[in-house]
Amino acid sequence: MILKVARLGYPSIRMIAAPVAIDQIKTHDFQKLIDDMVETMHEYSGVGLAAPQVHLSIQLAVLEVENHPRYPEMPSVPLTVLINPVVTILDSTPVDEFEGCLSIPDLRGRVPRFKQLRVTALGRNGEPLDFVVSDFHARVIQHETDHLKGEVYLDRMLDLRSLGFLPEWQRFILPSRPPE
Ligand code: NI
Repeated sequence: MILKVARLGYPSIRMIAAPVAIDQIKTHDFQKLIDDMVETMHEYSGVGLAAPQVHLSIQLAVLEVENHPRYPEMPSVPLTVLINPVVTILDSTPVDEFEGCLSIPDLRGRVPRFKQLRVTALGRNGEPLDFVVSDFHARVIQHETDHLKGEVYLDRMLDLRSLGFLPEWQRFILPSRPPE
C-alpha cells in the first residue's frame, strides 16, 4: 500500500522519534509497515524514506538505490531497513552535494555530509546490523537518520543561496545527483 508522505510542517517531521520496541518488530503490522514504506519509496522515486515522513514518529527508515529512473548515474545502495540506528562518524571530512527530500517537494540544495560512518542498527527481522559506509551511501544514511532526530537537510545547509527548484537547476546548473 502506498502511504501518504508528510511534508515539512507536519509535527512528526520535527519530532525526535521513539525507539522501536524489539518485540514489535516481528508483528504482522510492523512488517506490513516496512513493506508499505518500501513501496512508497519506490512509487515516489525516493532513495530513502523515514517513518516520520509517513506520519509515524518511530526510529525506522528504509533506503535503496538501484537503477534509479531519474538518476541512473547514482551509485547503487542495497535495500536496507534500519531500526533504531546509531551512527558513528569515522571520517568527518565534509563532502558537498545536492540533496532533495520527499517531504520538501521540488527543492534541491547543496548539503555538506560526513565522508564515512559506521552504522549499527536492527534489520527488518530484528537481526543486528553493523556496517561501514562512505560518500553517497553515507549521505543517504545521514539524511534518513536526521529524519529520526526531527532534522531535515535544510538544517544542514551552510548557504541557503544554493537552494532552488529542481527544474530551474536542471535548466541552469545541472546538479549531478540530487537524492530524495
Ligand atoms: Ni528526506
